[in-house]
Amino acid sequence: MRNQINIFNKINSFKKKIEVDGDKSISIRSVLLASQAIGKSQIFNLLESEDVMHSLKCIRKLGIVYKKHNNYYEIYGRGLNGFETNSNKILNAGNSGTLARLILGLLVNTTDSIKIIGDKSLSKRDFSRVTEPLKLFGANISSNNNKLPVTIRGSNFLRPIKYYEKLGSAQCKSAVMLAALKTPGNTQIKAKKSRNHTELFFKHLKIPIKINKIKNFDNILVKGVSNYRGFKYSIPGDISSSSFFIVLTLLSNNSSLVIKNVNINESRIGIIKILNKMNARIILKNKKSYKGERIADLYVKSISKFKSINCPENLNSSAIDEFLIIFLVAARAKGVSSFKNLGELNKKESPRLDIAVNLLKKIGIKVKRERNNIKIFGNPNLKLDSNYEMKNFRKDHRVFMTSCIAALTLGGKWKIQDSDSVKTSFPHFFKILKFLGAKIY
Ligand code: S3P
Repeated sequence: MRNQINIFNKINSFKKKIEVDGDKSISIRSVLLASQAIGKSQIFNLLESEDVMHSLKCIRKLGIVYKKHNNYYEIYGRGLNGFETNSNKILNAGNSGTLARLILGLLVNTTDSIKIIGDKSLSKRDFSRVTEPLKLFGANISSNNNKLPVTIRGSNFLRPIKYYEKLGSAQCKSAVMLAALKTPGNTQIKAKKSRNHTELFFKHLKIPIKINKIKNFDNILVKGVSNYRGFKYSIPGDISSSSFFIVLTLLSNNSSLVIKNVNINESRIGIIKILNKMNARIILKNKKSYKGERIADLYVKSISKFKSINCPENLNSSAIDEFLIIFLVAARAKGVSSFKNLGELNKKESPRLDIAVNLLKKIGIKVKRERNNIKIFGNPNLKLDSNYEMKNFRKDHRVFMTSCIAALTLGGKWKIQDSDSVKTSFPHFFKILKFLGAKIY
């Protein structure tokens, strides 16, 4: 398959309404939690991306049956002890850190060895951040120098733990919460604020959980249970996938866009707060609650003048997957934007901070980097007319999509490798771009 795309033209102005694919974090959580329930769960609008399909294949390998219907998936959970784990199974998490880390939490009570593997990018990522706390529950875990493959053999004698999550990582917090679910007694977690979909899902399933909010941390108490019932869930649109279209609209001329049915959970809307501080006017309409989550339609209009930002660090976690696309807006802002303490960005599917700095320099933007802090010297008149090539970014879906938005809004002739990377999180990315009028060859 040809895996390079060419973009030689900016997008013309558009005025449209779209819907993006389902939220990746909630889709993976819904599959994993359905596998542990007693009986049937039905999941509507499940994101059909590779990360989520790997989640389904992993639970199937562990003996869980699921069926795809016209517009929903049905998953037949077998309870908290229901995984079939005999015969040294190997689970492939593909590109997904969320799947690999969360499923390790669910495997703390399996008494056979299970090996987790992943693709090239995932195999470069650190797993000690989850294996260390999971060992404290009583699981036996070995790894390849803290990287994949990770092999876990759980225990029948789990003990609750006290865990201090300092990174602001929802994956670490969630892996520990899933292990706590299976562990008799109370597990106490002090976690730096991060996305809270697992907490909201637990509440919805009536799993005993107490949350005490203190400034930048949450104290979370999870009490182990013996079972819970299957559920119905409809996955809202993904704000991370929406972010590419928000910025496409902001940076285009005379365009407007409505993105329907997007998850606007407080722990995910850093991008909206940051862009609105930079002069965007993204408006949330038709707000409603859904099983603890918040959903709204996003109204976005093009803007010609952006202000620079001194980005408050307390928004880092809630915008962690959106910084690449936010940096494009900073590149067009008047003045110097500064972002601090973004070390976690380099621990993603690719070293995103390094890659962002290179991309910005490639398009002629001055950037000053000091360890994990960067300053972007914006140029409101930025117009590109050279040739640009994007390759060697570890097939990172968000680097790919950010490059497409740069090409469609800033000009120049772009060749971008690894177009199949969109399948990781956003299979309808091209379809929506073309609907808005983008010319991609
Ligand atoms: C995710 C948490 C974040 C995020 C990732 C999805 C989740 O990772 O970057 O795309 O679903 O819990 P960290 O927990 O490593 O920050």
